[in-house]
Amino acid sequence: MLKTDILIIGSGISGLFFAMKIAKKRPDLSLVIMTKETAKNTNTRFAQGGIAVVTENLTDSFAQHINDTLQAGDGHCDENIVKMVIEQAPARLRELLEIGTLFDKNEKGQWDLGLEGGHSQHRILHHKDSSGLEIEEKLLKIIKKTPNVEIWENHQVIDLNTETKKDKTTCTGAFFYDKKHNRIKYIRTRTVILSTGGCGQLFENTTNPKIATGDGIAMAAHAGVAIEDMQYIQFHPTALYAGKENPLFLISEAVRGFGAHIVNEDQKRFLFKYDLRGELATRDIISRAISKEIQNSSKNHVYLDCRHLDADSFHAHFPVITSHCKSVGIDPEKDLIPIVPAAHYQCGGIKVDQNGSTTIPNLYAIGECARTGLHGKNRLASNSLLEALVFAHQAAANVDKTISKFIFSTKILIPKFPKVQQTNDYYAFAILKQELQNVITAFYTSNDRDADLAFEKIKMLNNTAISQIEAHEITIPFIEFSNMLATALIIIKQCKEENNNRTRSRANI
Ligand code: SIN
Repeated sequence: MLKTDILIIGSGISGLFFAMKIAKKRPDLSLVIMTKETAKNTNTRFAQGGIAVVTENLTDSFAQHINDTLQAGDGHCDENIVKMVIEQAPARLRELLEIGTLFDKNEKGQWDLGLEGGHSQHRILHHKDSSGLEIEEKLLKIIKKTPNVEIWENHQVIDLNTETKKDKTTCTGAFFYDKKHNRIKYIRTRTVILSTGGCGQLFENTTNPKIATGDGIAMAAHAGVAIEDMQYIQFHPTALYAGKENPLFLISEAVRGFGAHIVNEDQKRFLFKYDLRGELATRDIISRAISKEIQNSSKNHVYLDCRHLDADSFHAHFPVITSHCKSVGIDPEKDLIPIVPAAHYQCGGIKVDQNGSTTIPNLYAIGECARTGLHGKNRLASNSLLEALVFAHQAAANVDKTISKFIFSTKILIPKFPKVQQTNDYYAFAILKQELQNVITAFYTSNDRDADLAFEKIKMLNNTAISQIEAHEITIPFIEFSNMLATALIIIKQCKEENNNRTRSRANI
């Protein structure tokens, strides 16, 4: 029987940082990091911007960063959490620096602090335009050398197992699919950390990689854990427009902080009509403004204009963006860059406390899959890597204190899913996935947001998916598609609840 003291599901920044911290503090504990593809295929890897940290007190302060975060979150943040995260940022940054993570400096040897939408100060530490990749690689390097941590690649968790005794539920293990051996197995554990990322793949236009299928949300919901604020999906205003490509290439917010303009088909800037901050307004405001502009134009995109910027300096700051644009025939020095808003970040998720603990005490959620209260309705740019670090730290400290309360369950569990279907049904599920993306995208972009209609359509897709497989047989596309369906239903339900609340409070005025 397989067992590990701590099972971490997902290998992005939050899971790796958690593993690094707890493994060092508690060499007596065994850790397994399970990841459904290779360890480096994560959302973190694609994070371009960086980490928002107050690093100087001359012009910046915790109070300003806190205020910017609260304003971006539009009255829906938890102020205590915002304060905790922002005040912890310098300490977590120091830990990244200690493991050799590199952030850019200017010619005076000071941090080259970037500016992004919604920030009142330059405070983004970045590694050119590939900050996530730099952090991911440094963390992986450490983890691979840590004796009490194993990384199991190509292992897809299917479901969590819980047990309830005297009204107390604990998480006792997980069923997973070992792709290499084509077997479904079970692992016993004393603590589970969900660090499974987001659900951007539910949308036609997304910056998230193919793995972002809401897996953690679906598993947590199935285990009966509270999920909140899933209606708040953040759209990034500047994804490179490329027709039906999935994912769309991200053009960092930092490019606007560097001075790029957003222009319409007449090559006119239009954002000041919507917000006095223009290109430096928050993402929600800019994305909505772009969508309006597109509706009133003959094109299905607008443009990012970088032509007035110093080309050498632009290239030095944004080498990945420049080379990607050039690879598709766009030269940022000479050409307008076509852009569209794309689903980018899930602001809600699995409800956790200040330690990352869910409503099941030995089940934690950290990183994008968690709803911590930091982001409210709209995340401030470059606050997500920071949140991941802080909550990984909090969770590690809490697991250290509490894990002794949880023992391995002695129940022998036969995997509930005895067979894996060998046939390659990727195509069938690719079509179903596209249909689901159409439903969710149409729902989010329509003015009336008919939740009942979307609900019915998703249920029909569910029935079709079930009829695609024989009883008790599962496939990887089926697991991912089921997770997407479950997540989609939660999103629609929470949108509907929010609409009802709004209608009720309007009626009470
Ligand atoms: C970006 O570089 O615009 C993305 C960073 C983030 O999502 O905060």
